Amino acid sequence: MNKDVIIACDFAGKEQTLTFLDRFPEGEKPFVKVGMELFYAEGPAIVRELKSRGHRVFLDLKLHDIPNTVRKAMAVLSGLGVDLCNVHAAGTVEMMRAAREGLGPDALLIAVTQLTSTSEERMQRELLIDADMPSAIAHYARNAKEAGLNGVVCSPLEVPLVKECCGTAFLAVTPGIRFADSAADDQVRITTPARARELGSDFIVVGRPVTAAQDPVAAWKQCRKDFLGL
Ligand code: C5P
Repeated sequence: MNKDVIIACDFAGKEQTLTFLDRFPEGEKPFVKVGMELFYAEGPAIVRELKSRGHRVFLDLKLHDIPNTVRKAMAVLSGLGVDLCNVHAAGTVEMMRAAREGLGPDALLIAVTQLTSTSEERMQRELLIDADMPSAIAHYARNAKEAGLNGVVCSPLEVPLVKECCGTAFLAVTPGIRFADSAADDQVRITTPARARELGSDFIVVGRPVTAAQDPVAAWKQCRKDFLGL
């Protein structure tokens, strides 16, 4: 799948989501991300609706459970025709293998290594992971690769490390994107779309810089231009 910008549709429900997407001209079908908030509010129907409108969908549910449960849940999600979905690498290689089996070969499957909201200090003190953050991320990324996953979700700043240990074909999907002149909001380790391209991201996930923009279509186009080097 070619590199692209994924819009995080962090809306409370279907109506707001479709109102937002209706602003895009006919024929412009952005790749969208459905997260827990929207999925738990609207259920699988929202994914079917977006797919029927021609969008590619990243279903960001971050599964983490026993392998059998994850395998069966992924089989259900594969029936929705999602293009990309994810699990927590912390669920073990066995769980990720089960996810891969359940999802089948048609959709891309990626793993969260360490959430970007987790600091190294908390990871060591609360999770008792006795490693520095880059080592933990590299190790979890290797586990994801061993389990047959296509890549990981990570900070744009971690992309060179992930590519170094798992190869350039292993996907890096990166949130934490801001235009140089836009507010950081609650994100801390941020980069611009152009910098994410330089660092080697395959997909950037962009929420508020597009969804809260005065002109979301123009913001999305700018993002694509900067990230894809158009
Ligand atoms: O609005 P903003 O651009 O910050 O949205 C980023 C999106 O990426 C949100 O949907 C957020 O939940 C998601 N995300 C993230 N950091 C991660 C994983 C997912 O920001 N580590």
